[in-house]
Amino acid sequence: MLIKTKKEIPSSELTPESVYRQRREFLKSSANIALGAGVLSSGLISPTALAQTDGLRSRAPEDINLASKPAWLLDKVRNRANAPGSGPYTTTESLTPFEDATNYNNFFEFGNGKGDPASRAREFRIDPWSVEIAGEVNKPGRYNLEDILQPHTLGERIYRLRCVEAFSMVVPWIGFPLADLINRFEPNSNARFIEFETLYDPEQMPGQAARTSSLGWPYREGLRMDEAMHPLTILAVGMYGDILPAQNGAPLRLVVPWKYGFKSIKSIVRINFRQDMPNTAWNDYASGEYGFYANVNPEVSHPRWSQSSERRLPSGLFDRRIDTQMFNGYTDEVAHLYAGMDLRVDF
Ligand code: MTE
Repeated sequence: MLIKTKKEIPSSELTPESVYRQRREFLKSSANIALGAGVLSSGLISPTALAQTDGLRSRAPEDINLASKPAWLLDKVRNRANAPGSGPYTTTESLTPFEDATNYNNFFEFGNGKGDPASRAREFRIDPWSVEIAGEVNKPGRYNLEDILQPHTLGERIYRLRCVEAFSMVVPWIGFPLADLINRFEPNSNARFIEFETLYDPEQMPGQAARTSSLGWPYREGLRMDEAMHPLTILAVGMYGDILPAQNGAPLRLVVPWKYGFKSIKSIVRINFRQDMPNTAWNDYASGEYGFYANVNPEVSHPRWSQSSERRLPSGLFDRRIDTQMFNGYTDEVAHLYAGMDLRVDF
C-alpha cells in the first residue's frame, strides 16, 4: 500500500528494493536447482504437482515465525481433509514460492516495509487466542480459538491474491468457508454486514505504536453479508501445508480472492454482525482511494496508478507483468453479487 506517512519513515525501517531483489534472486536460483529448472519450465511438473509437493512437506519450525505453535493447531492444519490442491475453485497457475509469500508482506501493524512483518513478528504470540462474536447474532460471546475451529473441516484453496498496489501472488491457503462459521453463530435478520477487527497490541505490534503510521488501529475490514456467505470467502489458518506464519496473519485471517488484498484482514480477534456498513481502516484513511467494495477491477484506476496490469511475484530484474482480470478472474462466481451496481461509484 503506498502509504503517505505523517512523518518520513526513517530509511533504516525500509527494506531497500535492491537488497530484497538480490536475496530473492538467490532464493529463486536455489529453488530452481532443487526442483530442476528445466523440468519445471518445460511444464513437466504441473502447478498442482508442485502444490502437492510443497503442501505435503512439513516446514522446518524456524520457517514459521511465531513464539509458540500450539500442537492442536499444527495437527489440525497438517491433517486437513482435502488432498493438497484438490479443493474447489483451485487454479492451475504456478504457486508463488513460500519464501516470497512470507517475506514480501503488507502487515502495517509490524511496519511499513515489505520485509518488516517477517523480521519483526518472529515472537508473535497466538496462544492463548480468542475471538469475540458480537452484534446481530443469536450466539454472541468470546470463544477460544480451539472452540472457534473445532467443528470445521479444513481444506486447501489455491487462490490468486491481487494487492491494490498492483503486485500479485498465487497462494495455497488452508482454511474453511466463512459461511460455515456464520451459520454456526446464527446472525439474526438485522445482520446485513459483517465487520472484522485485528488484534490491538502495540507491545507486540510496533507499527501500532509508531508515530509514522497514519492508519487507525485496530485494523478493521468489512463485507456485505452476501459477500461473506459466498463460498469463495474463507477463513484461513494455514498456507503451504502448515500453520500461518505471523506475517501472513496468524492464527486466523480472512481471504476474499476477488477483492484487493487489503480486504483480507489478518490476525482476527473480533467478528461483529451489523445492520449498517462498517468503517474500514483504508477507507477511513483515504476514502477516495480505497473503497468499501474494493473489487479487483482493471477498468477503474486507483487515483494515483493504473490497475490494468499487475506484477506477479516473484518478479526478478524484469517484472513479470500480466493483465489484471476483472474480479481477479472470479467473474463467473461473483459478478451476480454486483448486478445493477455502478462499480465506478462503488469501487
Ligand atoms: N491485515 C492487517 N491487519 N493489517 C494489514 O496491514 N494488509 C492487507 C491485508 N491484510 C493488512 C491486512 C494488505 S494491503 C494485503 S495486500 C494483504 O493483507 C497481504 O497479505 P499477505 O502479506 O499474506 O500477502
